[in-house]
Amino acid sequence: MIIFQNVSKYYDNQTVLKNITFTVQKGEITFITGPSGAGKSTLLKLMYLAESPDEGDIVIGDFHLASLKEAQIPYLRRSVGVVFQDFKLINSITVFDNVALSLRIRGVKEREIRDIVSNALKKVHIRHLSDSYPTSLSGGEQQRVVIARAIAAEPLVILADEPTGNLDPNTSIDIIRVLRELNAQGATILIATHNRELFRGTGNRVLKLDGGNIVGEEAG
Ligand SMILES: Nc1ncnc2c1ncn2[C@@H]1O[C@H](COP(=O)(O)OP(=O)(O)OP(=O)(O)O)[C@@H](O)[C@H]1O
Ligand SMILES: [Mg+2]
Repeated sequence: MIIFQNVSKYYDNQTVLKNITFTVQKGEITFITGPSGAGKSTLLKLMYLAESPDEGDIVIGDFHLASLKEAQIPYLRRSVGVVFQDFKLINSITVFDNVALSLRIRGVKEREIRDIVSNALKKVHIRHLSDSYPTSLSGGEQQRVVIARAIAAEPLVILADEPTGNLDPNTSIDIIRVLRELNAQGATILIATHNRELFRGTGNRVLKLDGGNIVGEEAG
């Protein structure tokens, strides 16, 4: 599902990722960990071309990023669901409308949207908050809305960059539990975090990144 083949990324003279090679199978959940500045966020950004790799190729499903045509980029981005620590929800519209937004832009029929959104909210256990506004929700609930928004588009992969960065420890564990549930239902998920508590004892795959290199792999 995801292939990194000898991928390098440089900013000015700085090597941020060096010769990164790894594969993530469909339906796998993988944590990427490492200290601040290790290159975790950059690695995720390369996958939806928020940044371009300087060397190597990345394959996401059928998308070969090294030879991807400009016109294909929106389709790639649609295939990658992103969950970041700063929620980026729109506060002036309801939870339902936040999750529905990208589907509406894409011209999906309202009746279908109703089913997709309510199903996505159900998967993250907040269907009862459908008509609420983001500002009335707790941080953990807001992050569930972000996850619902990501899965509503039925992406090939879900990328989470420090998805619990703004949450307290218990809420963080809840959010990781939601992501692991989605994985159990078949979603392919990559989670970047410096917080080892999030994967300790899960048995999930952990890739260790340091100074732009993969320095190890372990079971969490
Ligand atoms: N747009 C940019 N321009 C220049 N340098 C950058 C840019 N983005 C990241 N870097 C540098 O690349 C390196 C890796 O950054 P990255 O954000 O990927 O690390 P990270 O592992 O996600 O760290 P953190 O745990 O703090 O989020 C850092 O040295 C950073 O300063
Ligand atoms: Mg980061």
